[in-house]
Amino acid sequence: MSALRLEELSAATIVAVNQLGLKPGQEQFVTPVSYAAAAAVTPAHTAWQRVVLDGDRVVGFVHGNFDPDAPQEEFRAALWRINVDADAQGKGVGTFAVNALIEEARRRGVDHLTVLWERGEDGPEEFFLHIGFKPVDETPYGEVIGVIDLSE
Ligand SMILES: CC(C)(COP(=O)(O)OP(=O)(O)OC[C@H]1O[C@@H](n2cnc3c(N)ncnc32)[C@H](O)[C@@H]1OP(=O)(O)O)[C@@H](O)C(=O)NCCC(=O)NCCS
Repeated sequence: MSALRLEELSAATIVAVNQLGLKPGQEQFVTPVSYAAAAAVTPAHTAWQRVVLDGDRVVGFVHGNFDPDAPQEEFRAALWRINVDADAQGKGVGTFAVNALIEEARRRGVDHLTVLWERGEDGPEEFFLHIGFKPVDETPYGEVIGVIDLSE
């Protein structure tokens, strides 16, 4: 994999993002129910969305949310969605994307970042633990609430 880079989500890349493939069994983990519920009440301008490119090829997408006024704490500084194309998984693209979001969170002076995930085979739990998120609680839907401390 050559040097990865980030671009803002644009009309030119949105189609490629929507065509990112998943491995069999991963579909159910992409959007935990709590995100779908929160999406209805989350203003669009709080989204931080970036596309990951390897050369000219779109290989991943990361969506963060920064909304200090969100009624639920877990959406004030959150990793909302990440996905990496099936063919590009396991090569560091996901780590690169999450680290970019962490960098953005630090730049904004945020001291922790939250992510929700569903447990299960083919799910992203190992990935989030590997990055350094610690499970701290569960949502009413049974999703894990993971937090990474950025204060150090
Ligand atoms: C989760 C996901 C984003 C990880 O992206 P990725 O580019 O494959 O991750 P990386 O290559 O950066 O992996 C980093 C580490 O996490 C580990 N890891 C990643 N996915 C893993 C998995 N499914 N099971 C076990 N370990 C995993 C790898 O072993 C790797 O460790 P290493 O660096 O020691 O090899 C990707 O698998 C994906 O898009 N999944 C489908 C969508 C999804 O579930 N998104 C999360 C919910 S919002």
